[in-house]
Amino acid sequence: MARSIVSIVNGRPAERARAGTVSSPNPSRLSDVVAEVGLADAAAFAGACAAAKRAQPAWAAIPAPVRGRTVAAMGRIVEANKDRLARLITRELGKPYPEALGEVQEIIDTCDFFLGEGRRLYGQTVPSEMPDKQLFTFRVPVGAVAVVTAGNFPVAVPSWYLVPALVTGNTVVWKPAEYAAASAMALFELLQAAGLPQGVLNIVFADGQATFAGLELGLRAGTIDKIGFTGSTAVGARIGELAGRHLQTPCLELGGKNPMVVTPSADIELAVAGALFSGFGTAGQRCTSLGTVIAHESVHEEFVARLGAAVSAAAVGDPAEDVLYGPMLDQKFAGRFEEYLRWIQPHHKVLGSSGLGRITGANPRAGFVGDPEAGLFYHPTIVDGVQPGDELFCEETFGPIIGVTRYTTLDDAIMLANTPGYGLSASIYGNDPREVFRFRQGVSAGMVSVNNSTSGAEAHLPFGGNGKSGNGSRQSGIWVLDQFTRWQAMNWDYSGHLQKAQMDVAELAADLDFRLQT
Ligand code: UN1
Repeated sequence: MARSIVSIVNGRPAERARAGTVSSPNPSRLSDVVAEVGLADAAAFAGACAAAKRAQPAWAAIPAPVRGRTVAAMGRIVEANKDRLARLITRELGKPYPEALGEVQEIIDTCDFFLGEGRRLYGQTVPSEMPDKQLFTFRVPVGAVAVVTAGNFPVAVPSWYLVPALVTGNTVVWKPAEYAAASAMALFELLQAAGLPQGVLNIVFADGQATFAGLELGLRAGTIDKIGFTGSTAVGARIGELAGRHLQTPCLELGGKNPMVVTPSADIELAVAGALFSGFGTAGQRCTSLGTVIAHESVHEEFVARLGAAVSAAAVGDPAEDVLYGPMLDQKFAGRFEEYLRWIQPHHKVLGSSGLGRITGANPRAGFVGDPEAGLFYHPTIVDGVQPGDELFCEETFGPIIGVTRYTTLDDAIMLANTPGYGLSASIYGNDPREVFRFRQGVSAGMVSVNNSTSGAEAHLPFGGNGKSGNGSRQSGIWVLDQFTRWQAMNWDYSGHLQKAQMDVAELAADLDFRLQT
C-alpha cells in the first residue's frame, strides 16, 4: 500500500502539497506504488530554512556531549530497525537486500564515529608572542544547513551530512530525492526518535526547480549558512555558482568516471571480481561506480575474456533474491541510460549479455531472476575499445555499463585515468609498489584503492572528489568537521595594558655572525 508523505517542518507535517504530488514506485514492480509524495514550492522550502535558522541557537546551546548522546541514540535506533529500513530501500530503490543492509550499516558506523565527537570538538590553546596573554581556537557551528541528496544511497549518504551537522550544533533542512521519499522519511523518523527538539531537523520534498529557487530565497534571507549537495556535476556547478554569489562554499559530492588500472602484475581474478562489483553493483548507479577499465596490453585480452564470462553468468533481476543487481532507481535514470547506449560506436566491441538495453520478453537476459517486464531492468554492458575521443570514455554513464581500454606505459594509464576530468575514486590492481605509488601520486582522484574496487569507501575516511567530481570538500571522519564548523580565534590579554602584536614583542639578542672556529 502506498504511504502518503509530506514535508515536516518544526515537527509539523505540511497541510497541503503546494506544488502537487508525485508517486514513488517500486522500480522492480512498477505497479507497486511505495509512496505518494506531496511536494513543497520554493516559498515552503524557504520557510523550512527560516524555521531551522530560528531553532539553531537553542540547539547549539545544548552541551556538545549531550548532542553526542543523541547521536548515540540515533545509531542504536537505526540498528534496531536495520532490517526494516533495508527492506524498504530494496522495495523503493531496487537495491539488492545485502547491499541495502550495508547501506544501513553505513549510517550506524557514521553515528558510532560521531557520538564521541560531542565530547571532543577540540579547539586549541596556543601560546601568545607576549606575556600575560593567551590564544585559543574554538569550533563554531556554521548555522542552518540545507542538505540536498540523491536517491542512489537514499539514507547512508544523507547521514554523512545530517549526523556531523547536528552533532556540531547546526540545524538542518533535508531535501531528499522524490523517488526515495519513503526511505528518507523512515530515516527522518528514526533520527527524530532520538529526541531532537522541534525545528532542529526538517525534511522537505520538492522538485529540482522549487529546491533551487528555495535555496536562492534562503540564501538571500540569510537563513541558509551552508549547502550540502550530492548529485550531478551539472547541478553541482549551478549550486556552486549560486552559493558563491553569497560568499559561501558548498559541500559538493558530484559524479565520477572512476578508472580501474589493471597492471601486468595484477591478480586478474581479483580484478575481475572488483570490476563486477563496482561496475554493476547497484546497477552501476553509485557515484563510485567503475567507469573505465584501463588494462595493460599484456593482460587486456585475458581480463576482457574473464570479465565478459563473469558478467554474462551473473544473476540480474529481483533485488529481493540473490542477484548481482536489480533495476534502475527510477524512470528518469532508465531513460538517461538508454541515451548513453546510443554512444556505442562501430569501433567498440560489446560483451556481457544476451542483449542490449531494457530486458524484456522480446529482449531477454539469460538467467534473469523474476519478471523483467514488471520493472526497469537493463542488460549489463561491457564496451571494449573505448578511446579518449569517445563520449563513453569521457562522460559519466550512470547505469550497468563500463568501458575498457588498453595502455602500454604507466604514464599513459595515468593520463587515461585523468582525461575525463573527474576525480572521485580510482583503483589500481597490481603488486609492484613503485607502480602503485606513482599511480597514487599522478591520479586526480580524491580516493585511491589498491587491489580493491572503486566502490566501498569506509565511513571514516575522507570521501570526496576533485575536478568535475566536486570542489575539494570532503565528507566523513574528522575531515567533515571543517564543513560544518568554522574556526574562531580568540586572544585574551590579562596584562592590564595595551600590548601591540608584532610591535611590543620582546627579543633576545642573537649573534647571527657566530661561526664555529674549526
Ligand atoms: C555514492 O555513490 O554517492 O563507496 C556514495 C561506496 C559507498 C558510498 C557511495 N560506500 O561505494
